[in-house]
Amino acid sequence: MSAKQSVTVVGLGPMGRATARILLAAGLDVTVWNRTPGKTEALVELGATPAATAAEAVAANDTVLLSLIHYDAMYGTLADADLTGKTIVNLSSDSPANTGKGASWVLERGARFLTGAYMTQSDDIQHPASHLYVSGPKDLHEELRPLLELLCANEYLGADYGLAQLYYQAGLAQFHSYLIALQQALAMIERSGGSVDRYLELTKDDAQSQRDFTLFFAEAAKQGGWGDPAALKMMHAGAQHVIDASEDAGVDASLTRTVQDYYRRAIDATEESGEFVSVYRLIRGATA
Ligand SMILES: NC(=O)c1ccc[n+]([C@@H]2O[C@H](COP(=O)([O-])OP(=O)(O)OC[C@H]3O[C@@H](n4cnc5c(N)ncnc54)[C@H](OP(=O)(O)O)[C@@H]3O)[C@@H](O)[C@H]2O)c1
Repeated sequence: MSAKQSVTVVGLGPMGRATARILLAAGLDVTVWNRTPGKTEALVELGATPAATAAEAVAANDTVLLSLIHYDAMYGTLADADLTGKTIVNLSSDSPANTGKGASWVLERGARFLTGAYMTQSDDIQHPASHLYVSGPKDLHEELRPLLELLCANEYLGADYGLAQLYYQAGLAQFHSYLIALQQALAMIERSGGSVDRYLELTKDDAQSQRDFTLFFAEAAKQGGWGDPAALKMMHAGAQHVIDASEDAGVDASLTRTVQDYYRRAIDATEESGEFVSVYRLIRGATA
């Protein structure tokens, strides 16, 4: 990688700023732009070049990294930019379908396109567990890999533009629930007079256990989902115990009520149909 390589970063939220900082530290010339003023100054102190408009930022370099709140923000942001011959890498989050529409929009304007999804520890892009999921033309990714690997390890997922988002959003489906569940657990401990530090000690080996559950449930999903009627009833009753423990301590148990509802629906569907209906089957929403 030549120290003279240059790149533009458009969108300077936490992720765009972290992206620009890493590229600057790697010795690249980085042009930056953000819709709202006040986010470029700290990067300029690190050596970035501010652009007056998004169009100017795009014009400054062949490769443009976008880090915006969603794909919709790209259309207005790049409306006045000449994309002819540019390479746009959109690192923003969105659905696979919106990503596909965004890719078409960029390609129609004469640019090449790659999708990236930051599966990272927040804006700690270079955390050892962080990855950039990438999809789009393989040869384009190979060309850009030296640049994108400066950020974090790349996982190329295929030519379909939406693939990076598919795997990223699936990961977030787990992560979002985990974050709420974690806060419920911490609140239960705290409001019941327990020790959060003791809880952390007790749960320090969770990662291996969760991995084992992941493998087990993935295998079960391939067979139609885990469980049997007795397991559904046990889980439904168990969810009630969590609800009681939470609410007795004054803690919101909405997430567990939603969890319990899945088991209730699976029990009802099993009883109505006369055959076992797993929670996975309900979630999957398939008839076959
Ligand atoms: N933060 C994380 O931990 C994390 C991790 C992985 C992936 N991501 C994803 O990475 C992307 C960037 O995330 P972020 O946390 O840096 O910040 P963000 O708050 O999701 O996005 C901030 C950027 O989007 C711009 N923006 C917002 N609405 C806009 C609009 N309607 N039109 C044009 N620009 C608009 C903001 O401009 P203004 O400053 O002018 O508002 C800012 O540049 C998101 O898609 C996010 O989901 C975030």
